[in-house]
Amino acid sequence: MGKEIVLTGITTSGTPHLGNYVGAIRPAIEASRREDTESFFFLADYHALIKCQDPERVKQSRLEIAATWLACGLDTDKATFYRQSDIPEISELNWLLTCVTGKGLMNRAHAYKASVDENVNNGQDPDYGVTMGLFCYPVLMAADILAFNANKVPVGRDQIQHIEMARDIAARFNHLFGQHFVLPEAVVAEDDSAILKGLDGRKMSKSYNNTIPLFDTEKKLKKGINKIVTNLLEPGEPKDPNGSTVFDIYKAFATEEQTAEMRQKFAEGIAWGEAKKELFELINGQLSEPREKYLELMANPAEIEAVLQAGAEKARARARALISDLRNAVGLVNFV
Ligand code: TRP
Repeated sequence: MGKEIVLTGITTSGTPHLGNYVGAIRPAIEASRREDTESFFFLADYHALIKCQDPERVKQSRLEIAATWLACGLDTDKATFYRQSDIPEISELNWLLTCVTGKGLMNRAHAYKASVDENVNNGQDPDYGVTMGLFCYPVLMAADILAFNANKVPVGRDQIQHIEMARDIAARFNHLFGQHFVLPEAVVAEDDSAILKGLDGRKMSKSYNNTIPLFDTEKKLKKGINKIVTNLLEPGEPKDPNGSTVFDIYKAFATEEQTAEMRQKFAEGIAWGEAKKELFELINGQLSEPREKYLELMANPAEIEAVLQAGAEKARARARALISDLRNAVGLVNFV
């Protein structure tokens, strides 16, 4: 049996925060060490262009995200790590898939529908500000996945529909042109441990402006942690770990034993200041080494570029074979 192919993309429009680390980066890197899987991780920089038209932001985010994955220990000899925009085969597949994708299917995409609903609520034209990039977003995502015939696609809950659409598109293509694509499956963490809470207790997310950046300076990390909202219980008063953001973030970085100890301290009425101090020490202890590596990489973009170029070559070699079969299948054949 061949290895199971695991693939996921990271949209390059922001700066990695603790939530990205706990929910996506850390588990992906851990899974990529397994012998029975082959991992493809890529910077979804074409997708970034859909929501971000600030070239500096796109450029900086790609660099930061690449440096983050490398600093966190991704082994790029084992996993294939590349930029979407370095793989022309993805664009080519995007078109082949576009030609078999029903417009009606795209009409049902949540992200597009949300934009339309917002326009309607604001009394605007329904299509106001809706680009073809946004409308066709799920087709490009299907191309990302199908170009490597990925079996498993780890994503957040909000992306499940996109994976289902990729399956629909793949099945349609297979039906028309023969069995070329594996139908991919979404992998979503079934408990909520993958969803880290942010400063205000909601999901940590750039769109809520409640994040703690992963590789800020030690001082800023401390400041960020101090901004986590707590209740007004005094030192000495027992505190409930359930629903406490401080406790939840602590748990995401702690061993089971450390978590049990912190639970006990909450029961004994640890002061919020003290709990935050312990949280800082725990996180900082785990991040200080990768942080150093991150700063080193950020100061040396040529090193990152070389890694990504090598990754693109590896990825393209894989995609090329499939695309060549697909071209034949649809009739784009050589005459001789
Ligand atoms: N749309 C995904 C997100 O915003 C990113 C992404 C792009 C992706 N292409 C992908 C994820 C392919 C998995 C597979 O999170």
